[in-house]
Amino acid sequence: MSKAKYRAKVIEKERLSGDIYSLLLNVGPEVSEAVPGQFIDLYSEDKSRMLPRPISICDVDKEKQQMRIVFRIAGAGTEEFSLKEPGDEIDIVGPLGNGYYMPEADGNECHVLLGGGIGIPPMLYLAKCLFESGIPKESIKTVLGFRDADTFLAGEFEKYSEVYITSDNGAVGIKGNVIDGIKEYGIKADKIYACGPTPMLRGIKAFTKENGISAQISLEERMACGIGACLACVCKSEEVDDHSKVNNKRICKDGPVFFAEEVVL
Ligand SMILES: Cc1cc2nc3c(=O)[nH]c(=O)nc-3n(C[C@H](O)[C@H](O)[C@H](O)COP(=O)(O)OP(=O)(O)OC[C@H]3O[C@@H](n4cnc5c(N)ncnc54)[C@H](O)[C@@H]3O)c2cc1C
Ligand code: FES
Repeated sequence: MSKAKYRAKVIEKERLSGDIYSLLLNVGPEVSEAVPGQFIDLYSEDKSRMLPRPISICDVDKEKQQMRIVFRIAGAGTEEFSLKEPGDEIDIVGPLGNGYYMPEADGNECHVLLGGGIGIPPMLYLAKCLFESGIPKESIKTVLGFRDADTFLAGEFEKYSEVYITSDNGAVGIKGNVIDGIKEYGIKADKIYACGPTPMLRGIKAFTKENGISAQISLEERMACGIGACLACVCKSEEVDDHSKVNNKRICKDGPVFFAEEVVL
């Protein structure tokens, strides 16, 4: 059953860096039940842009029924959301998708969170929830991959995890991607959780297979309906899908988070 639209009120807006914005929204009780890895759909006021824009959940305060999203301006939809001010409203639907499988707290395992570019925001809520489940901070390590020195959110991860930085041009942290970061910082991972561009996720799938590490990856492909009805967002899966009866998975409904071995990248 599809979820009803909720008219969310903007409480705070912040520009985090260049074209990256953070919005704190008042989202009501249902949306604030979201778990890490889920996303919300945001609707434009411009009716020529009918399709909603999916944005990951960066943080939730269940008590206050508030949700934070962080996004980069990619086109007209995200630009419109970046112009919102406190008191303005946005139609949203959510929470959508499945979210990360959360393990039992075990201080002996090292949980490594890998966020690349605009895949970084959902890792913050995941880091918070892993930490609040009782996993000690030193057993949660976050590797954040930026393009250059224009970083965002890095300091906020320090509340819940040890933080390691990489950048494509070497301007901050080590030069390279998040897998280079794991290797060069000598991080030993038992469980990996990742979100970022497909080439990064492909590299993580190969790296974790080679090293026998369990990995959950979140795919951020283009979407249309966002609720599993149109098949615009399918990716190839190793197994036959119950819904489509072919080797497909709907990222919006079956994902966006998958165990790396479930999907073909
Ligand atoms: C599950 C999910 C979670 C997401 N979470 C975030 C998030 O937390 N923060 C964030 O900044 N963005 C996130 N995105 C991407 C975001 O949805 C798109 O950037 C947004 O829909 C673009 O809308 P627009 O109207 O601004 O741009 P459009 O005019 O629709 O597109 C502008 C350009 O961006 C490209 N584009 C659009 N969507 C995507 C996409 N999904 N992946 C790659 N390129 C795309 C288009 O091809 C085009 O070149 C997420 C996407 C998905 C599917
Ligand atoms: S966007 Fe329609 S099925 Fe996923």
